Amino acid sequence: MISQKLVNAREYEAKKEKGITPEERPAFHLSTRVGWMNDPNGFCYYNGAYHLFYQYHPYDSHWGPMHWGHAVSRDLLHWEYLPAALAPDMPYDKDGCFSGSAMELEDGRHMLMYTGVRKEKQPDGTLREVQTQCIAVGDGTDYEKYEGNPVLDEKDLPEGSCRFDFRDPKIWRKEDGTFRCIIGNCTEERDGRILLYSSEDGYHWKYEKVLAENKGRFGQMWECPDFFELDGKYVLLTSPQGMLPQGLEYHNGNGTVCLIGTYDEETETFTEERNQAIDYGIDFYAPQTILTPEGRRIMIGWMQCWSTSGLHSPNQPWFGQMNLPRELSVKNGRLYQNPVQELESLRCQGVKYENVDFEDDCICLEGIEGRTIDMEVSVRPGNEAELYRKFTVRFAQDENYYTAFHFWPEDSIAEVDRRFSGSREDVIHERRCYVNSADGSLKLRIILDRFSAEIFVNDGEHALSLTMETGQEADGISFVAEGAVVMDVVKYDLCVE
Ligand code: FRU
Repeated sequence: MISQKLVNAREYEAKKEKGITPEERPAFHLSTRVGWMNDPNGFCYYNGAYHLFYQYHPYDSHWGPMHWGHAVSRDLLHWEYLPAALAPDMPYDKDGCFSGSAMELEDGRHMLMYTGVRKEKQPDGTLREVQTQCIAVGDGTDYEKYEGNPVLDEKDLPEGSCRFDFRDPKIWRKEDGTFRCIIGNCTEERDGRILLYSSEDGYHWKYEKVLAENKGRFGQMWECPDFFELDGKYVLLTSPQGMLPQGLEYHNGNGTVCLIGTYDEETETFTEERNQAIDYGIDFYAPQTILTPEGRRIMIGWMQCWSTSGLHSPNQPWFGQMNLPRELSVKNGRLYQNPVQELESLRCQGVKYENVDFEDDCICLEGIEGRTIDMEVSVRPGNEAELYRKFTVRFAQDENYYTAFHFWPEDSIAEVDRRFSGSREDVIHERRCYVNSADGSLKLRIILDRFSAEIFVNDGEHALSLTMETGQEADGISFVAEGAVVMDVVKYDLCVE
Protein backbone atom coordinates (compact mmCIF):
# COMPACT_ATOMS: atom_id res chain seq x y z
CA MET A 1 0.00 0.00 0.00
CA ILE A 2 1.37 3.37 -1.03
CA SER A 3 0.28 6.09 1.40
CA GLN A 4 -1.35 9.32 0.29
CA LYS A 5 1.71 11.19 1.59
CA LEU A 6 3.96 9.23 -0.75
CA VAL A 7 1.53 9.58 -3.67
CA ASN A 8 1.58 13.34 -3.10
CA ALA A 9 5.38 13.45 -3.02
CA ARG A 10 5.60 11.39 -6.21
CA GLU A 11 3.14 13.61 -8.04
CA TYR A 12 4.85 16.73 -6.83
CA GLU A 13 8.37 15.68 -7.87
CA ALA A 14 7.20 14.49 -11.31
CA LYS A 15 5.56 17.86 -11.95
CA LYS A 16 8.22 20.13 -10.43
CA GLU A 17 11.26 18.52 -12.05
CA LYS A 18 10.03 19.80 -15.41
CA GLY A 19 10.99 23.30 -14.27
CA ILE A 20 14.69 22.36 -14.01
CA THR A 21 16.69 22.12 -17.24
CA PRO A 22 19.56 19.60 -17.49
CA GLU A 23 22.04 22.51 -17.81
CA GLU A 24 20.98 23.81 -14.40
CA ARG A 25 22.19 20.58 -12.83
CA PRO A 26 25.55 18.87 -12.60
CA ALA A 27 26.21 16.71 -15.67
CA PHE A 28 27.24 13.45 -14.00
CA HIS A 29 26.87 13.98 -10.25
CA LEU A 30 23.51 12.97 -8.83
CA SER A 31 21.55 16.01 -7.68
CA THR A 32 18.17 15.98 -5.95
CA ARG A 33 15.23 15.46 -8.27
CA VAL A 34 13.57 18.56 -6.78
CA GLY A 35 13.86 20.45 -3.49
CA TRP A 36 16.47 19.35 -0.97
CA MET A 37 18.94 16.44 -0.74
CA ASN A 38 21.29 15.39 2.03
CA ASP A 39 22.91 12.03 2.90
CA PRO A 40 23.18 9.15 0.45
CA ASN A 41 21.02 6.24 1.69
CA GLY A 42 20.54 2.62 0.73
CA PHE A 43 23.46 2.59 -1.72
CA CYS A 44 23.43 -0.91 -3.25
CA TYR A 45 23.57 -3.04 -6.36
CA TYR A 46 20.18 -4.63 -6.94
CA ASN A 47 18.70 -6.37 -9.99
CA GLY A 48 21.51 -5.34 -12.33
CA ALA A 49 21.67 -1.64 -11.38
CA TYR A 50 23.12 0.63 -8.74
CA HIS A 51 20.40 2.08 -6.53
CA LEU A 52 20.99 5.22 -4.60
CA PHE A 53 18.42 6.69 -2.25
CA TYR A 54 18.89 9.98 -0.45
CA GLN A 55 17.57 12.16 2.35
CA TYR A 56 14.98 14.21 0.56
CA HIS A 57 12.58 17.08 1.16
CA PRO A 58 10.84 17.49 -2.18
CA TYR A 59 8.70 20.49 -1.22
CA ASP A 60 11.46 22.96 -0.42
CA SER A 61 15.15 23.53 -1.18
CA HIS A 62 15.76 23.51 2.58
CA TRP A 63 15.79 20.57 5.01
CA GLY A 64 12.35 19.44 6.22
CA PRO A 65 10.41 16.25 7.01
CA MET A 66 12.64 13.62 5.46
CA HIS A 67 11.51 11.38 2.62
CA TRP A 68 13.77 9.02 0.67
CA GLY A 69 14.45 10.09 -2.93
CA HIS A 70 15.55 7.38 -5.32
CA ALA A 71 17.72 7.06 -8.45
CA VAL A 72 19.29 4.21 -10.41
CA SER A 73 22.34 3.97 -12.62
CA ARG A 74 24.26 1.34 -14.55
CA ASP A 75 27.58 3.18 -14.45
CA LEU A 76 27.36 5.45 -11.37
CA LEU A 77 27.46 8.49 -13.68
CA HIS A 78 24.22 8.50 -15.66
CA TRP A 79 21.39 8.57 -13.12
CA GLU A 80 17.71 8.08 -13.71
CA TYR A 81 15.19 9.14 -11.09
CA LEU A 82 12.68 6.66 -9.73
CA PRO A 83 9.66 7.73 -7.69
CA ALA A 84 10.35 8.71 -4.07
CA ALA A 85 10.64 5.51 -2.02
CA LEU A 86 9.64 6.51 1.51
CA ALA A 87 7.51 9.25 3.05
CA PRO A 88 7.11 10.02 6.77
CA ASP A 89 3.65 8.48 6.90
CA MET A 90 3.55 6.20 9.97
CA PRO A 91 3.21 7.08 13.67
CA TYR A 92 6.78 5.87 14.33
CA ASP A 93 8.33 7.92 11.48
CA LYS A 94 5.85 10.78 11.18
CA ASP A 95 8.61 13.38 11.64
CA GLY A 96 11.09 11.89 9.21
CA CYS A 97 12.55 8.82 7.53
CA PHE A 98 16.20 9.45 8.36
CA SER A 99 19.27 7.79 6.88
CA GLY A 100 19.78 4.08 6.45
CA SER A 101 20.92 1.35 4.13
CA ALA A 102 19.67 -1.44 1.87
CA MET A 103 20.31 -5.02 0.91
CA GLU A 104 18.88 -7.84 -1.14
CA LEU A 105 17.06 -10.57 0.76
CA GLU A 106 17.40 -14.28 0.03
CA ASP A 107 14.05 -14.29 -1.78
CA GLY A 108 15.14 -11.50 -4.12
CA ARG A 109 13.19 -8.72 -2.41
CA HIS A 110 14.89 -5.48 -1.45
CA MET A 111 15.13 -4.46 2.19
CA LEU A 112 15.60 -0.90 3.44
CA MET A 113 16.56 -0.23 7.05
CA TYR A 114 16.17 3.37 8.15
CA THR A 115 15.69 5.57 11.17
CA GLY A 116 12.13 6.55 12.02
CA VAL A 117 11.80 9.86 13.83
CA ARG A 118 8.89 10.99 15.94
CA LYS A 119 8.69 14.09 18.09
CA GLU A 120 7.72 13.35 21.66
CA LYS A 121 6.75 15.73 24.42
CA GLN A 122 9.19 15.55 27.32
CA PRO A 123 8.27 15.90 31.01
CA ASP A 124 9.68 19.44 30.94
CA GLY A 125 7.31 20.34 28.09
CA THR A 126 9.91 20.44 25.31
CA LEU A 127 9.60 18.41 22.11
CA ARG A 128 12.43 15.96 21.34
CA GLU A 129 12.96 13.66 18.37
CA VAL A 130 12.95 10.00 19.40
CA GLN A 131 14.80 7.80 16.93
CA THR A 132 14.09 4.13 16.25
CA GLN A 133 15.11 1.70 13.50
CA CYS A 134 12.57 0.58 10.93
CA ILE A 135 12.31 -1.69 7.91
CA ALA A 136 10.62 -1.47 4.52
CA VAL A 137 10.69 -4.22 1.90
CA GLY A 138 10.03 -3.86 -1.81
CA ASP A 139 10.83 -4.58 -5.41
CA GLY A 140 13.26 -1.77 -6.22
CA THR A 141 10.51 0.84 -6.79
CA ASP A 142 7.72 0.39 -4.23
CA TYR A 143 8.37 -0.44 -0.60
CA GLU A 144 6.08 -1.57 2.16
CA LYS A 145 6.89 -0.71 5.75
CA TYR A 146 7.13 -3.76 8.01
CA GLU A 147 4.17 -4.24 10.36
CA GLY A 148 6.59 -5.00 13.21
CA ASN A 149 8.24 -1.56 13.04
CA PRO A 150 10.18 -0.25 14.82
CA VAL A 151 12.56 -3.20 14.96
CA LEU A 152 14.95 -1.46 17.35
CA ASP A 153 14.08 1.18 19.88
CA GLU A 154 15.33 2.60 23.17
CA LYS A 155 14.92 -0.80 24.88
CA ASP A 156 17.74 -2.04 22.66
CA LEU A 157 20.21 0.60 23.74
CA PRO A 158 23.08 -0.13 26.12
CA GLU A 159 23.20 1.69 29.39
CA GLY A 160 24.09 5.35 29.29
CA SER A 161 22.91 5.85 25.68
CA CYS A 162 21.13 8.90 24.46
CA ARG A 163 17.81 7.80 22.95
CA PHE A 164 17.51 10.99 20.91
CA ASP A 165 20.66 10.13 18.98
CA PHE A 166 20.28 6.59 17.66
CA ARG A 167 20.34 6.61 13.89
CA ASP A 168 21.63 5.67 10.45
CA PRO A 169 21.72 1.83 10.42
CA LYS A 170 24.17 0.25 8.00
CA ILE A 171 23.20 -3.35 7.36
CA TRP A 172 25.22 -6.26 5.90
CA ARG A 173 25.12 -9.99 5.68
CA LYS A 174 27.80 -12.31 6.98
CA GLU A 175 28.98 -15.37 5.13
CA ASP A 176 26.96 -17.60 7.48
CA GLY A 177 23.78 -15.85 6.27
CA THR A 178 23.12 -13.91 9.49
CA PHE A 179 22.72 -10.13 9.46
CA ARG A 180 24.61 -7.40 11.23
CA CYS A 181 24.05 -3.71 11.46
CA ILE A 182 25.86 -0.81 13.01
CA ILE A 183 24.10 2.30 14.23
CA GLY A 184 25.34 5.76 15.19
CA ASN A 185 24.77 6.72 18.80
CA CYS A 186 26.25 8.73 21.65
CA THR A 187 26.31 8.60 25.39
CA GLU A 188 24.13 10.85 27.51
CA GLU A 189 27.17 13.17 27.52
CA ARG A 190 27.00 13.16 23.69
CA ASP A 191 30.22 11.23 23.22
CA GLY A 192 29.96 9.33 19.90
CA ARG A 193 29.89 5.58 19.60
CA ILE A 194 28.90 2.90 17.12
CA LEU A 195 26.61 0.08 18.24
CA LEU A 196 26.58 -3.41 16.72
CA TYR A 197 23.38 -5.47 16.37
CA SER A 198 22.75 -8.95 14.96
CA SER A 199 19.78 -10.72 13.41
CA GLU A 200 18.97 -14.16 12.01
CA ASP A 201 16.36 -12.93 9.52
CA GLY A 202 16.83 -9.17 9.13
CA TYR A 203 13.63 -8.41 11.08
CA HIS A 204 14.42 -9.44 14.64
CA TRP A 205 17.47 -7.70 16.01
CA LYS A 206 19.59 -8.12 19.10
CA TYR A 207 22.07 -5.72 20.67
CA GLU A 208 25.60 -7.12 20.60
CA LYS A 209 28.13 -4.53 21.70
CA VAL A 210 29.76 -1.14 21.29
CA LEU A 211 31.89 -1.59 18.16
CA ALA A 212 33.83 1.66 18.52
CA GLU A 213 33.76 4.63 20.82
CA ASN A 214 34.99 8.15 20.67
CA LYS A 215 36.35 8.64 24.17
CA GLY A 216 36.28 12.37 23.62
CA ARG A 217 38.50 12.43 20.53
CA PHE A 218 36.48 13.23 17.40
CA GLY A 219 33.52 15.51 17.92
CA GLN A 220 30.31 14.48 19.61
CA MET A 221 27.47 12.37 18.16
CA TRP A 222 28.75 9.95 15.48
CA GLU A 223 26.44 9.85 12.46
CA CYS A 224 26.22 7.61 9.40
CA PRO A 225 28.61 4.75 10.16
CA ASP A 226 29.90 2.22 7.64
CA PHE A 227 32.17 -0.76 8.27
CA PHE A 228 33.93 -3.07 5.83
CA GLU A 229 36.99 -5.11 5.05
CA LEU A 230 39.44 -3.61 2.59
CA ASP A 231 42.89 -4.74 1.55
CA GLY A 232 43.39 -6.89 4.62
CA LYS A 233 42.25 -4.19 7.06
CA TYR A 234 38.89 -3.19 8.51
CA VAL A 235 37.65 0.31 7.93
CA LEU A 236 35.08 2.18 9.99
CA LEU A 237 33.71 5.40 8.52
CA THR A 238 31.66 7.85 10.52
CA SER A 239 30.64 11.50 10.35
CA PRO A 240 30.95 13.16 13.76
CA GLN A 241 29.02 16.28 14.66
CA GLY A 242 30.67 19.11 16.55
CA MET A 243 34.29 18.34 15.76
CA LEU A 244 37.28 20.34 16.94
CA PRO A 245 40.28 20.59 14.64
CA GLN A 246 43.51 18.67 15.31
CA GLY A 247 46.18 20.60 13.44
CA LEU A 248 45.19 20.32 9.78
CA GLU A 249 43.79 16.81 10.12
CA TYR A 250 40.19 17.52 11.11
CA HIS A 251 38.14 20.66 10.87
CA ASN A 252 35.51 22.29 13.04
CA GLY A 253 31.89 21.26 12.86
CA ASN A 254 30.50 18.30 10.97
CA GLY A 255 33.42 16.27 9.65
CA THR A 256 34.34 12.79 8.57
CA VAL A 257 36.54 10.20 10.23
CA CYS A 258 38.03 6.99 8.90
CA LEU A 259 39.30 4.51 11.49
CA ILE A 260 41.51 1.76 10.09
CA GLY A 261 42.28 -1.34 12.10
CA THR A 262 41.71 -5.04 12.53
CA TYR A 263 38.60 -7.05 13.31
CA ASP A 264 38.32 -10.32 15.16
CA GLU A 265 35.30 -12.06 13.57
CA GLU A 266 34.98 -14.51 16.44
CA THR A 267 34.57 -11.91 19.19
CA GLU A 268 33.41 -9.17 16.79
CA THR A 269 36.06 -6.86 18.16
CA PHE A 270 37.39 -3.92 16.17
CA THR A 271 40.85 -2.71 17.14
CA GLU A 272 41.78 0.73 15.85
CA GLU A 273 45.23 1.40 14.46
CA ARG A 274 45.02 4.67 12.51
CA ASN A 275 42.64 7.54 11.97
CA GLN A 276 42.33 10.24 9.33
CA ALA A 277 39.79 12.61 7.84
CA ILE A 278 38.15 11.24 4.69
CA ASP A 279 37.87 14.41 2.61
CA TYR A 280 40.05 17.46 3.23
CA GLY A 281 38.03 19.99 1.22
CA ILE A 282 34.91 21.90 2.22
CA ASP A 283 31.90 19.90 1.03
CA PHE A 284 31.76 16.23 1.96
CA TYR A 285 29.69 14.38 4.56
CA ALA A 286 27.91 11.17 5.50
CA PRO A 287 29.52 8.80 2.96
CA GLN A 288 28.23 5.29 2.36
CA THR A 289 29.90 2.41 0.53
CA ILE A 290 29.03 -0.70 -1.44
CA LEU A 291 30.91 -3.72 -2.67
CA THR A 292 30.27 -4.01 -6.41
CA PRO A 293 29.71 -7.41 -8.03
CA GLU A 294 33.35 -7.38 -9.22
CA GLY A 295 34.60 -6.64 -5.71
CA ARG A 296 35.33 -2.92 -5.82
CA ARG A 297 34.59 -0.93 -2.65
CA ILE A 298 32.91 2.28 -3.80
CA MET A 299 32.02 5.25 -1.63
CA ILE A 300 29.63 8.10 -2.27
CA GLY A 301 29.06 11.08 0.01
CA TRP A 302 26.90 14.16 0.20
CA MET A 303 28.88 16.97 -1.45
CA GLN A 304 27.85 19.65 0.99
CA CYS A 305 28.72 21.00 4.38
CA TRP A 306 25.98 21.36 6.99
CA SER A 307 27.12 24.79 8.18
CA THR A 308 26.59 26.40 4.77
CA SER A 309 23.58 24.39 3.68
CA GLY A 310 20.87 26.77 4.87
CA LEU A 311 22.00 29.99 3.22
CA HIS A 312 20.48 29.71 -0.24
CA SER A 313 17.25 31.28 -1.44
CA PRO A 314 14.10 29.21 -0.85
CA ASN A 315 13.22 29.88 -4.49
CA GLN A 316 16.13 27.79 -5.69
CA PRO A 317 14.51 24.74 -7.37
CA TRP A 318 17.11 22.27 -6.10
CA PHE A 319 19.81 22.08 -3.48
CA GLY A 320 22.15 19.18 -2.79
CA GLN A 321 24.30 16.84 -4.84
CA MET A 322 26.37 13.74 -4.24
CA ASN A 323 30.09 13.63 -4.81
CA LEU A 324 31.61 11.53 -7.55
CA PRO A 325 31.63 7.86 -6.48
CA ARG A 326 35.15 6.90 -5.42
CA GLU A 327 36.99 3.60 -5.48
CA LEU A 328 38.64 2.92 -2.15
CA SER A 329 41.78 1.10 -1.18
CA VAL A 330 44.06 0.98 1.85
CA LYS A 331 47.75 1.55 1.26
CA ASN A 332 50.42 2.19 3.86
CA GLY A 333 47.75 2.47 6.53
CA ARG A 334 45.87 5.22 4.66
CA LEU A 335 42.54 5.31 2.89
CA TYR A 336 43.08 6.03 -0.82
CA GLN A 337 40.25 7.41 -2.93
CA ASN A 338 40.06 7.71 -6.70
CA PRO A 339 37.24 8.51 -9.11
CA VAL A 340 35.38 5.38 -10.25
CA GLN A 341 37.03 3.91 -13.32
CA GLU A 342 33.75 4.39 -15.26
CA LEU A 343 34.59 8.10 -15.44
CA GLU A 344 37.24 7.37 -18.04
CA SER A 345 34.52 6.31 -20.48
CA LEU A 346 33.24 9.91 -20.50
CA ARG A 347 36.63 11.30 -21.51
CA CYS A 348 36.76 12.94 -24.91
CA GLN A 349 38.91 15.53 -26.68
CA GLY A 350 42.15 15.06 -24.82
CA VAL A 351 44.66 17.94 -24.82
CA LYS A 352 48.16 17.16 -23.62
CA TYR A 353 51.26 19.17 -22.68
CA GLU A 354 54.55 17.81 -21.41
CA ASN A 355 57.47 19.52 -19.70
CA VAL A 356 55.96 22.98 -19.62
CA ASP A 357 58.49 25.09 -17.72
CA PHE A 358 57.81 28.53 -16.34
CA GLU A 359 59.07 30.73 -13.56
CA ASP A 360 57.39 33.47 -11.50
CA ASP A 361 54.60 33.61 -14.01
CA CYS A 362 50.93 32.90 -14.63
CA ILE A 363 50.22 30.96 -17.80
CA CYS A 364 47.26 29.62 -19.75
CA LEU A 365 47.55 26.76 -22.22
CA GLU A 366 45.62 26.58 -25.47
CA GLY A 367 42.73 24.11 -25.14
CA ILE A 368 43.03 23.77 -21.35
CA GLU A 369 39.67 25.09 -20.12
CA GLY A 370 36.16 23.91 -19.33
CA ARG A 371 33.73 23.22 -16.49
CA THR A 372 33.02 19.52 -17.03
CA ILE A 373 36.53 18.16 -17.24
CA ASP A 374 38.96 15.55 -15.98
CA MET A 375 42.46 17.04 -15.77
CA GLU A 376 45.73 15.58 -14.56
CA VAL A 377 48.54 17.89 -13.56
CA SER A 378 52.01 16.79 -12.45
CA VAL A 379 54.31 19.48 -11.15
CA ARG A 380 57.97 19.30 -10.13
CA PRO A 381 60.76 21.78 -9.39
CA GLY A 382 62.14 23.57 -12.44
CA ASN A 383 65.40 24.39 -10.74
CA GLU A 384 67.45 21.80 -8.92
CA ALA A 385 69.22 24.31 -6.74
CA GLU A 386 66.11 26.06 -5.48
CA LEU A 387 62.69 24.66 -4.59
CA TYR A 388 59.82 26.73 -5.97
CA ARG A 389 57.77 28.58 -3.34
CA LYS A 390 54.20 28.04 -4.50
CA PHE A 391 52.22 26.44 -7.30
CA THR A 392 48.57 27.23 -8.06
CA VAL A 393 45.98 25.90 -10.44
CA ARG A 394 43.07 28.28 -10.98
CA PHE A 395 39.87 27.09 -12.57
CA ALA A 396 36.28 28.25 -13.14
CA GLN A 397 38.01 31.50 -14.01
CA ASP A 398 37.16 34.69 -15.87
CA GLU A 399 38.04 38.36 -15.23
CA ASN A 400 36.07 38.35 -11.98
CA TYR A 401 36.11 34.85 -10.60
CA TYR A 402 38.25 31.82 -9.95
CA THR A 403 38.64 28.93 -7.56
CA ALA A 404 42.11 27.66 -6.78
CA PHE A 405 44.22 24.78 -5.59
CA HIS A 406 47.45 26.01 -3.99
CA PHE A 407 50.53 24.05 -2.99
CA TRP A 408 53.45 25.22 -0.87
CA PRO A 409 56.21 22.61 -1.30
CA GLU A 410 58.40 23.84 1.53
CA ASP A 411 55.68 23.11 4.10
CA SER A 412 54.01 20.38 2.03
CA ILE A 413 50.67 22.11 2.47
CA ALA A 414 47.84 22.10 -0.06
CA GLU A 415 44.77 24.33 0.01
CA VAL A 416 41.48 24.71 -1.81
CA ASP A 417 40.32 28.30 -2.04
CA ARG A 418 36.95 29.45 -3.34
CA ARG A 419 36.98 32.98 -1.93
CA PHE A 420 36.69 34.38 -5.43
CA SER A 421 34.14 31.90 -6.75
CA GLY A 422 31.21 34.30 -6.57
CA SER A 423 29.94 33.49 -3.08
CA ARG A 424 28.58 36.50 -1.19
CA GLU A 425 28.52 34.58 2.09
CA ASP A 426 30.76 35.06 5.07
CA VAL A 427 31.51 31.36 5.45
CA ILE A 428 34.47 28.98 5.16
CA HIS A 429 36.02 29.23 1.69
CA GLU A 430 39.50 27.83 2.29
CA ARG A 431 40.78 24.61 3.73
CA ARG A 432 44.28 23.20 4.05
CA CYS A 433 45.89 19.82 4.54
CA TYR A 434 49.35 18.29 4.59
CA VAL A 435 50.20 16.26 1.51
CA ASN A 436 53.20 14.07 0.76
CA SER A 437 55.86 15.58 -1.39
CA ALA A 438 59.46 14.86 -0.58
CA ASP A 439 61.00 16.94 -3.35
CA GLY A 440 58.31 19.36 -4.52
CA SER A 441 56.68 16.87 -6.91
CA LEU A 442 52.92 16.64 -6.77
CA LYS A 443 50.33 14.84 -8.86
CA LEU A 444 46.77 16.13 -9.13
CA ARG A 445 43.60 14.93 -10.75
CA ILE A 446 40.96 17.64 -10.89
CA ILE A 447 37.36 16.78 -11.76
CA LEU A 448 35.02 19.67 -12.50
CA ASP A 449 31.29 19.25 -13.02
CA ARG A 450 29.65 22.68 -13.44
CA PHE A 451 29.08 23.43 -9.74
CA SER A 452 31.84 21.46 -8.05
CA ALA A 453 35.50 20.56 -7.99
CA GLU A 454 37.01 17.37 -6.61
CA ILE A 455 40.76 17.17 -6.37
CA PHE A 456 42.64 13.91 -5.87
CA VAL A 457 46.25 14.32 -4.78
CA ASN A 458 49.03 11.77 -5.40
CA ASP A 459 46.86 9.02 -6.87
CA GLY A 460 44.17 9.31 -4.22
CA GLU A 461 46.22 9.85 -1.08
CA HIS A 462 44.13 12.93 -0.29
CA ALA A 463 40.80 14.06 -1.72
CA LEU A 464 39.42 17.61 -1.48
CA SER A 465 35.87 18.46 -2.56
CA LEU A 466 34.02 21.72 -2.84
CA THR A 467 30.91 23.14 -4.41
CA MET A 468 30.95 26.50 -6.18
CA GLU A 469 28.27 28.69 -7.66
CA THR A 470 30.36 30.44 -10.30
CA GLY A 471 28.53 31.08 -13.60
CA GLN A 472 29.36 28.54 -16.31
CA GLU A 473 30.88 31.21 -18.60
CA ALA A 474 33.86 31.32 -16.20
CA ASP A 475 35.59 28.32 -17.76
CA GLY A 476 39.22 29.47 -17.83
CA ILE A 477 42.15 27.62 -16.28
CA SER A 478 45.54 29.08 -15.43
CA PHE A 479 48.70 27.94 -13.68
CA VAL A 480 50.74 30.17 -11.40
CA ALA A 481 54.29 29.52 -10.21
CA GLU A 482 56.31 31.40 -7.62
CA GLY A 483 59.75 30.14 -8.45
CA ALA A 484 60.51 27.72 -11.28
CA VAL A 485 58.38 24.66 -12.05
CA VAL A 486 57.99 22.07 -14.78
CA MET A 487 54.61 20.50 -15.34
CA ASP A 488 52.72 17.99 -17.45
CA VAL A 489 49.02 18.54 -18.09
CA VAL A 490 46.43 16.36 -19.75
CA LYS A 491 42.84 17.48 -19.88
CA TYR A 492 39.75 15.70 -21.17
CA ASP A 493 36.28 17.08 -21.56
CA LEU A 494 33.74 14.83 -19.93
CA CYS A 495 31.03 14.18 -22.47
CA VAL A 496 27.74 13.03 -20.98
CA GLU A 497 24.92 12.09 -23.34
C1 FRU B 1 23.52 13.33 8.69
C2 FRU B 1 22.12 13.25 9.28
C3 FRU B 1 21.84 11.84 9.73
C4 FRU B 1 20.34 11.81 9.70
C5 FRU B 1 20.02 12.68 8.51
C6 FRU B 1 18.77 13.48 8.63
O1 FRU B 1 23.71 14.31 7.76
O2 FRU B 1 22.01 14.16 10.36
O3 FRU B 1 22.39 11.49 10.97
O4 FRU B 1 19.85 10.50 9.55
O5 FRU B 1 21.12 13.55 8.34
O6 FRU B 1 18.42 14.09 7.44
